[in-house]
Amino acid sequence: MTNDEATASVTAVWAMPSYRNRAVEPTREAAWETLNRYTKSEALLRHALAVEAAVGAYAQRFGEDEQLWRATALLHDFDYEIHPTLDQHPQDGAPILRDEGWPDEVVEGVLSHASHLGLERDTQLKKTLFACDELAGFIHACGLVRPDGIETLEPKSVKKKLKQPSFAAGVNRQDVYEGAEELGVELDDHIRFVVEAMRPIAGELGLRQSAE
Ligand SMILES: [Fe+2]
Ligand SMILES: [Fe+2]
Repeated sequence: MTNDEATASVTAVWAMPSYRNRAVEPTREAAWETLNRYTKSEALLRHALAVEAAVGAYAQRFGEDEQLWRATALLHDFDYEIHPTLDQHPQDGAPILRDEGWPDEVVEGVLSHASHLGLERDTQLKKTLFACDELAGFIHACGLVRPDGIETLEPKSVKKKLKQPSFAAGVNRQDVYEGAEELGVELDDHIRFVVEAMRPIAGELGLRQSAE
């Protein structure tokens, strides 16, 4: 290879979108920063925080890379405000993340939460994110109608509400049941685990807490 050829091939590689920026260290702080650049809605930010709490707690339980898992959870709906329909979300968001230098594990995790893309959830991170996404949203909704938020929320009452189609109708029940099954956890244990993970940030999630 001549010098000119070598220069040309290096230039070509660096012109590829995924190499344009330096790789991002996948931390929750970096993900929070990226998320906030694309998302202004308080409800969406709270949803991201709720899913992060659940996925982060599972990362600890499984001994996985907690920062990477938290980053993926925070980013899973990062493009929803700019791509609010399923013909764009999250598939049109993925190239933005790649372009910003987010690692494949994060980008693929983000893509995999969307059932309509039909991607295999073949890693523990993908299974966990899918299992926590709709459920965290549903638990949030349960907490919003209770005087003490999620402080005393039990799996039994979450399951009862899951059977009422009119309550939080936007939450796909099938995804909740399938998510737990794919992750290999009992629904009761899963609900309890996610509620406990969300409790410490109940205030940030806009949930009432009983005054003590
Ligand atoms: Fe989504
Ligand atoms: Fe979500």
